[in-house]
Amino acid sequence: MRERILVTSALPYANGPLHVGHIAGAYLPADTYVRYNRLAGADIVYVGGTDEHGTAIEIKALKDGVTPKELVDFYYEDMKTDFKNLGISYDNFSRTSLPVHHKTSQDFFLKILKNGHIERKTVTQAFCPKCNMFLADRYVEGTCPACSAPDQKGNQCEVCGKVLEPIELVNPKCITCSTTPEVKETFQWFIRLSDFQDELEVWMKSNKHWRPNVVNFCLNWIKEGLQDRAITRDLQWGIKVPLEEGKDKVLYVWFEAVIGYVSSTKEWAERMGKPDAWKDYWLDGKIVHFIGKDNIPFHAIMWPAFLLGYGEYEGRKWKLPYDVPANEYLNIGGKKTSTSRNWAIWLGDFLKDFPPDYLRYYLTTVAPESRDSDFLWEDFQKRINDELNDIIGNFVHRSITFAYNNFDGKIPSLDKSLLDDDDKEAIKNMEEIGTKVSDLIKVFKMKDALKEVVSFAKSCNRYFDKKEPWKLVKTDKAKAANTIYISLELAKTLSMVLNPFLPFSTEKMLKEIGISKFVWDDSAKLLLEQGKSLGKPEPIFSKVPDEEIKRQVQKLDNPAPMKKTLVKKEEKPMIPFDEFAKLDIRTGKIISVDDHPKADKLYVMKIDVGEERTIVAGIKSYYKKEELIGKKIVAICNLEPATIRGVKSEAMLLAADDGKLVSLLEADKEMKTGAKIR
Ligand code: MF3
Ligand code: ZN
Repeated sequence: MRERILVTSALPYANGPLHVGHIAGAYLPADTYVRYNRLAGADIVYVGGTDEHGTAIEIKALKDGVTPKELVDFYYEDMKTDFKNLGISYDNFSRTSLPVHHKTSQDFFLKILKNGHIERKTVTQAFCPKCNMFLADRYVEGTCPACSAPDQKGNQCEVCGKVLEPIELVNPKCITCSTTPEVKETFQWFIRLSDFQDELEVWMKSNKHWRPNVVNFCLNWIKEGLQDRAITRDLQWGIKVPLEEGKDKVLYVWFEAVIGYVSSTKEWAERMGKPDAWKDYWLDGKIVHFIGKDNIPFHAIMWPAFLLGYGEYEGRKWKLPYDVPANEYLNIGGKKTSTSRNWAIWLGDFLKDFPPDYLRYYLTTVAPESRDSDFLWEDFQKRINDELNDIIGNFVHRSITFAYNNFDGKIPSLDKSLLDDDDKEAIKNMEEIGTKVSDLIKVFKMKDALKEVVSFAKSCNRYFDKKEPWKLVKTDKAKAANTIYISLELAKTLSMVLNPFLPFSTEKMLKEIGISKFVWDDSAKLLLEQGKSLGKPEPIFSKVPDEEIKRQVQKLDNPAPMKKTLVKKEEKPMIPFDEFAKLDIRTGKIISVDDHPKADKLYVMKIDVGEERTIVAGIKSYYKKEELIGKKIVAICNLEPATIRGVKSEAMLLAADDGKLVSLLEADKEMKTGAKIR
């Protein structure tokens, strides 16, 4: 049976552009893994999306002077484009602001509550008297109580990784006004992680194939004794707690964001026209979460606890993560990437200057798989020039060019009776490289896998050099043909096993060799059609010149100031008063409300605006029927009637829409119906 795998990459906060550190951590290795598995014939789905709630979003929006909604809309598009340009091949890229995710998260909350693992507790929390609000998470900064690192945020210490409550910080300050917060009573819902202590420990110890740094981090955490954790917050922006007493609170971003993986899979299934397909993966698949190391506790302890707390879904248990291959950090020139200090290499900028595969290649060679690693521009240049260009590109190019110039641009024929030991060894290497590479990719050793490919490419060049086909072609054309045939097979295999790493350039290489579709096992076969025409050889890579590197280093040292989020405001034309005066706007009263027979989100209402009218309105998600009946509203009465899903709508209600809430405009109770608005 085909292996069924669900792969996720951490949902990045939609509050700023992607940088190369993000890519090296949770995205490129996932994509490489997924691309390999697709070629190997696995039933694999790769999902992701943007994380759009929490104080990381609210605070950035505040700083940039835009609404959270405007911020996340902007960065959702920005990230989606960047990922696409880098060839990150999501099957679905979702967002946590979508209704499917709100519903799924609220369902998780209610199920875990019903199963008795969530309880309401009174707590004291940081409160800023000047701003008159509770300060959740990142609204407070101060010194880490565990490692004494200064300037840490109230949710987690970036230095030691400890997950925090804002009031635990030493010398806490409100980030908005620098006031020292007071503590004030409120209540929140907590998940009792201790309920899962034993089960998680046994499970964690059984994860023998995981990276030791991940397992050790978690076992230490578990050993300290799992504490109850608040999973709600006093914030406006987010997913409402689905309980009457919780209507002014939202779910904690880390409670719902991980659930985003499920929501994204649901969205994918829906799009594929098989809405139940998500269950096959979540209830009966291998789940792999690619993340950066700061996300370990949330994916390897809390998320499994949520899944256990949910209990069965339609009689089946949720699968706990099969693996959580967390990467360490990628530093830049020896220093930690820092958005606030503007020390970063932005993905969008990079892709303006270099082809995507250059970044994919370099980031794989320096992947921070077991310890922090470093992006160095000089090292980048060296890797691209000496390896990608001179070893890999060169072999493919010289093989095709030779055939092009000496064998009429056709694949020469192979005479097996003439094979010598060098030929046989080259073929043997070709037959083995696929397995060597896949064995490493399967255990998330992308860096080692790529090293294998490079040493294979070196052996290919050695073969070519040793054979000296440029001499052979003059003395023994049949042997020269064999050499070039084998070289082309090697080039084909090299391109195939490199494809998960460098999808763009290998597609070009394979096209020159005449291959458009292949599976992983083809890399081990002699399969070229003798006599078939080759594509015109073009160099696939080119060297990165010194000046370019100088320019990049300068840019890194003297970055352009960070731009604020630019939100394109819709330009609405000014209209003359006469035009406005044409509108017939009146007060009215809602007489009756019914569900639209053909649409879930619409009501069909009768309103009295001096006379009775029927209208169709998309406010079902915002108002209950009984809230509407009798309401004094405002309506435009001379719009051309529109038929909406088979029902004729004869007026339009006025309502405000902030992207999250919809609020009907109302007139005072005493107001007569049919009064003119002007
Ligand atoms: N937004 C988080 C971050 O950038 C990661 C969330 S991963 C998910 O650190 F699991 F919650 F989705
Ligand atoms: Zn304050």
